[in-house]
Amino acid sequence: MTSLALCAVVLALAGDSVIAKPVQRATSSHISLPFARRMNTTGIPNLLAVDQARAKALKNRSSSKGTKTSARSPLAPAINVPADNQVVDYVATVLVGNPPTEFFLLIDTGSSNTWVGATTPFTVTSTTVDTGNEVEVIYGSGFFFGEEVTDQVQLANGLTITNQSIGVAELAFGFDGVDGILGIGPVDLTVDTLFPDDTDTVPTVIDNAFAQGLIDERLIGISFEPTDTIEALNGELTFGGINTNKFTGEMTFVPITSTAPASEFVGIDQTVTYGAAGTPILATTAGITDTGTTLLLLATDAIEAYQTATGAVLDDTVGLLRLTPDQFASLESLFFQIGDTTFEFTPNAQIFPRALNTAIGGTDDFVYLIAADLGSPSGEGFDFVDGMTFLERFYYVFDSANSQVGFATTEFTDSTIN
Ligand SMILES: *[C@@H]1O[C@H](CO)[C@@H](O)[C@H](O)[C@H]1NC(C)=O
Ligand SMILES: *[C@@H]1O[C@H](CO)[C@@H](O)[C@H](O)[C@H]1NC(C)=O
Ligand SMILES: *[C@@H]1O[C@H](CO)[C@@H](O)[C@H](O)[C@H]1NC(C)=O
Repeated sequence: MTSLALCAVVLALAGDSVIAKPVQRATSSHISLPFARRMNTTGIPNLLAVDQARAKALKNRSSSKGTKTSARSPLAPAINVPADNQVVDYVATVLVGNPPTEFFLLIDTGSSNTWVGATTPFTVTSTTVDTGNEVEVIYGSGFFFGEEVTDQVQLANGLTITNQSIGVAELAFGFDGVDGILGIGPVDLTVDTLFPDDTDTVPTVIDNAFAQGLIDERLIGISFEPTDTIEALNGELTFGGINTNKFTGEMTFVPITSTAPASEFVGIDQTVTYGAAGTPILATTAGITDTGTTLLLLATDAIEAYQTATGAVLDDTVGLLRLTPDQFASLESLFFQIGDTTFEFTPNAQIFPRALNTAIGGTDDFVYLIAADLGSPSGEGFDFVDGMTFLERFYYVFDSANSQVGFATTEFTDSTIN
């Protein structure tokens, strides 16, 4: 076991923990995969609708679990959701098969199956093995249904996983412009996704990379940066380690929350306050961190408190909260207490990049906020989603081996790019 893993285990026993940067080990077997943020400027502005539909489906997931006795009809998804395309995608290029086919896959810590074929068709090659299973996952902002194969997957130079379960879409809904999903969440989210073989979990790419000795730790480090361009290749997934060049200061690790249903995901407990006066926004409560969500979603009562504190009003055209330039000038920071650390989320971090206002159907000189309504009240064990507009300000680690989540500030935490 490496020093990081040892350290993490010991400190996890002591509850919320902070580890200092110097104890992390060198970058020997860290393998990184770049990923991009892309915005679809021809899409209908539906940023919030897509995120809310996803949150609702994730939150409701446990109540529908274990009820599956046969493959659902592919034409009758269990949850009816808008079929809108994502306005914002976080995608990486992944190669499947030999000779390989290149796929653009969404990076998703909120699900754990990997599948392809929504846009670019899957090609059977010498490394493809048909398992005879069907596979289905419902995301809220879409779903897919298809055949399971195992195949070779190249995530990056030097990281080729064999025998990886891959869903080959026969029907995919809500995934225009991408080929599928690279599911990097907790493996338990794969339970009940296969039929008829629904007896077990389906190892994720991280589980397989670890089991095959390609990485030393069952952990993923995620670096992302704020950007004001339509497309930017500025994200990095590091498999099996964390890239110490991508963060500043100390890494705070907290255990996955014990509160359901957030506990099924990369869920954490956090407290949110606003401004120097410490106005309560969200009392300590459970929610999730999620690379498959764009916005920062807060329970309805929390978003109301935030609106009261900031004076924001709902913009009917864009669907996001809006401030006047004067209100923005006096906007204060949000403070996220995660474990023993308080992370400051600056006024600039709270707004949508103004250079991209028109890309979401907005007006140039308006100020739109990235904190939005989750669509349900607090107290339900799933009271927030720290999506990408939150995560782009911090380095983020999902340590599945030790069921913990890490955060650290980066050189972009206080960036004024927006
Ligand atoms: C962008 O959105 C439009 C309309 O919703 C859709 O038809 C198109 O396929 C999308 N393009 C990409 C690259 O996602
Ligand atoms: C939640 O799940 C239950 C059980 O599968 C289902 O009947 C219900 O329609 C779902 N609710 C929502 C809001 O998706
Ligand atoms: C391939 O992976 C599956 C799970 O996806 C597992 O059941 C099977 O034993 C693996 N086969 C080999 C040869 O490792």
